[in-house]
Amino acid sequence: MKNYVKENYRSYINPSVGRLLEFMGMDHVEVRGEGMYLYDSVGKEYIDCLGGYGTFAFGHRHPRIVNAVKRQLDELPLSGKVFLSRALSNAARHLAMITPQGLRYSFWCNSGTEAVEGALKTARLATRRERFVAMKGGFHGKTFGALSVSGRDLYRIPFAPMLDEIIHIPFGDIDALESVLDETVAGVIVEPIQGEGGVVVPPYGYLREIRALCDRCGALMIADEVQTGMGRTGRAFAVEREDVVPDILVLAKALGGGVMPCGAFIATEDVWRPYFDHPFLHTSTFGGNPLACVAADMAMTVLIEEGLAENAANMGEYLLKRLQGLMAEYPDLIRDVRGRGLLIGMELSSEGHAGLMMSELIKRGVIVAYTLNNPTIIRLEPPLIIQRKEVDMVIDRLGDALLQMKKYGI
Ligand SMILES: Cc1ncc(COP(=O)(O)O)c(C=O)c1O
Repeated sequence: MKNYVKENYRSYINPSVGRLLEFMGMDHVEVRGEGMYLYDSVGKEYIDCLGGYGTFAFGHRHPRIVNAVKRQLDELPLSGKVFLSRALSNAARHLAMITPQGLRYSFWCNSGTEAVEGALKTARLATRRERFVAMKGGFHGKTFGALSVSGRDLYRIPFAPMLDEIIHIPFGDIDALESVLDETVAGVIVEPIQGEGGVVVPPYGYLREIRALCDRCGALMIADEVQTGMGRTGRAFAVEREDVVPDILVLAKALGGGVMPCGAFIATEDVWRPYFDHPFLHTSTFGGNPLACVAADMAMTVLIEEGLAENAANMGEYLLKRLQGLMAEYPDLIRDVRGRGLLIGMELSSEGHAGLMMSELIKRGVIVAYTLNNPTIIRLEPPLIIQRKEVDMVIDRLGDALLQMKKYGI
């Protein structure tokens, strides 16, 4: 059968995408997802260890989330935007209940980058200051504001000039932060663990020190938990590990339960105050739509009731230990393994090795990908529902792939 999907990509999306995926052995057509697994058009089963870059924390099509969305679909999929929305009110309340105490008012949107845009605007509004401090290697999305605070030139330079008044400093370096922070800074945006930067875990205490420095100069702390939030690192939110309450917390990806696109940012009452007088300063037609909100509401219920953060902590520890075993066996191929919970990075000895590892794993029915800002790192972000049996399967196939790479003489 002619692969018309590939043809459509070539003719109507971008010829390079199809070619690149073909080169990497990833030009399969996805047709179905269920729990830990993704299936292609020829019926091949893949363990999804990428999980849509962190979106499928609950697995594919979690039944409780799918049912909540189906019920809403039959009633009112999108909001008329004139009356009150029950779905939005429930999701906003629920988010305030499960996020660190003090975070209360939220704005709902459709993606991570939109949530970051809203957080940056809100920080300027609340502080009446202009500048932002962001981290080298950080990733916050690809709209102008989010791209401006992201930390990789490759994605920024072709679209320059970016937003003015952004200072990029090394991630994890508290002295660097102290040296640039003053009363002109509106906010410091930081991922608790850099995801796309290559799963970079900062020293313990780093978030607390950022909190203290921000308090000292009146800058807002913006925690971007688009990737680390919703149980991924073994806590509902990664800032909880250091008992830190940011002024603004940014979420997306898993927030929509792996069923709907959904983003949000939630802030303290102090930060939100300017919106009390001007509630329509920041708005979105589709943001906070009922389908996304019931998905998020149910996703939060599932996260807590099904103990997924705890499972992420346990399975993450086990996976990391097994990966360390492989690293000891193949020290010339694997340079490092690191991470927290089920946000795990495996550093290969070169970009080429990482690419080859990806295609060897795809052949063996395991989906992984490298991190956007650091292509030597293969990330493993399986659904938080993963069990030991599946971790063992992944490790077996990884071992097989490494053996094959050795045979190639790599
Ligand atoms: C930490 C972080 N922030 C923001 C984003 C942007 O999210 P989106 O792709 O939904 O715009 C991402 C995406 O990978 C991310 O990892």
